[in-house]
Amino acid sequence: MGPVVHQIGTKSPLYEKSLVIRNDVLRKPLNLNIYDEDLSDEEDQIHFVLEKDNQILGTVSLVANYKKNTGKLRQMATIAEVRGDGYGRMLVQKLEKYAVNNEMKTVVLHARHYAIGFYQKMGYTISSETFEEVGIKHVVMQKELH
Ligand SMILES: CC(C)(COP(=O)(O)OP(=O)(O)OC[C@H]1O[C@@H](n2cnc3c(N)ncnc32)[C@H](O)[C@@H]1OP(=O)(O)O)[C@@H](O)C(=O)NCCC(=O)NCCS
Repeated sequence: MGPVVHQIGTKSPLYEKSLVIRNDVLRKPLNLNIYDEDLSDEEDQIHFVLEKDNQILGTVSLVANYKKNTGKLRQMATIAEVRGDGYGRMLVQKLEKYAVNNEMKTVVLHARHYAIGFYQKMGYTISSETFEEVGIKHVVMQKELH
């Protein structure tokens, strides 16, 4: 089966699989464990997972209407084995399509410094000074949706 991006909620079995990827990609390298976190806010968020050949290869989440007409992209990750294969782009595009269809005009995010180039390719621009979060340098990036 070709790659498909599913839009899911926290009750979906695919959500548990997305947590495994988020833990491997975004937490373990920082010696953190996602299962120690209070994830209850995520019930109100929109989660996207990319599935190919019955495997989950990546995920991203959206805080819809985080501010007026603005959504926040968070928890963007694809597994190391498939990076550069276009799945990150597919996830961002699906999130943006959802945002446009749900009255959002802007998407903002906190980019880890080593992911800035990826988001620039997706059309995001830097809109803050550098700051530190979870011990990593970040910048705010944003994109106006059309
Ligand atoms: C950042 C990340 C999500 C990108 O996902 P991906 O599946 O590799 O993305 P794609 O294959 O769709 O890449 C799209 C384009 O961005 C480029 N790109 C991907 N990662 C990049 C990076 N870190 N820096 C610069 N360019 C990057 C790709 O080369 C590709 O370019 P092209 O259109 O010219 O071919 C992935 O590398 C990842 O999970 N990294 C670790 C976790 C992370 O940093 N998450 C973001 C935290 S803010």
